[in-house]
Amino acid sequence: MKPLLFALPGNELLAERLSQKMPAELGQMTLRKFPDGETYLCLLTEVAGRHVVLISSLDRPDEKMIPLWLLAKTAKAQGAKKVTLLSPYLPYMRQDKTFHPGESISTRHFADLVSGMVDHLVTVDPHLHRISRLEEIYTIPTTVLHAAQPIAKWIRTQVEKPVLIGPDSESKQWVSEVAEKAGAPYLVLEKKRFGDRQVEVSVPHLGPYRNHTPVLVDDIISTAQTMIKAVEHLWQSGAKPPVCIGVHAVFAGPAFEELKAAGAGRIVTCDTILHSSNAIDLSELYVPVFNNS
Ligand code: R5P
Repeated sequence: MKPLLFALPGNELLAERLSQKMPAELGQMTLRKFPDGETYLCLLTEVAGRHVVLISSLDRPDEKMIPLWLLAKTAKAQGAKKVTLLSPYLPYMRQDKTFHPGESISTRHFADLVSGMVDHLVTVDPHLHRISRLEEIYTIPTTVLHAAQPIAKWIRTQVEKPVLIGPDSESKQWVSEVAEKAGAPYLVLEKKRFGDRQVEVSVPHLGPYRNHTPVLVDDIISTAQTMIKAVEHLWQSGAKPPVCIGVHAVFAGPAFEELKAAGAGRIVTCDTILHSSNAIDLSELYVPVFNNS
């Protein structure tokens, strides 16, 4: 039977695209707030015996988790055969260690929460750093998809003579793969983080790539301070206006405007989080996962 897709608010476009690209049915529900702020949910499509796919990108996750949890639990209670969460952006992946006494390793607790809600998790390029595989923290099957190919395709068609730059050592995993697929050279910078918005990034030495277009590639753009510091160095070194590419357009507060003001030539993101900078559609990535479900 075709999977039944339920789009949480803000994810309707992806659900619509998926239903056009693969055999799937769009589920209907009423999801609203009671006057006291609690969530009311009513499933209008029968879920018994169906593979239910909940589509919810989980940027700003705290306010999204209760409706999602209710939806997952309700689908199960009404007889869904399997409940999958498609969350193109997986949050709570950065506090994966105790840096100061007393701190929560929220990455692990969030993984416990999701593992207790759904049967399968599908996501794109989660921020794997000290935790190298989702299986280390999630107790349910997980499918990790990669944006490298679509990003490389965008660079090949849109940027003349690119040189890719990863702003920190973690970014090497994405930058090297994108560079190989785009047939472009790459450099990786060093980053030191002193606080949420306090970062230092080493000066990029473009060397033989001085006449290339710098393309900064990172997984998450949150406060954008990482990108901003790299952009500032590039301007100071007389490089061409850099293109900034992020997989996940988190853009906390005024981050997008600040990155533009810092001199980013173009800011481009994948559509894992809805944002005006989305230029790389990843919907094709999900199709094989659900076509065989
Ligand atoms: C962390 O290391 C990630 O790969 C990104 O570099 C980081 O999340 C970017 O954060 P921000 O935009 O706040 O500098």
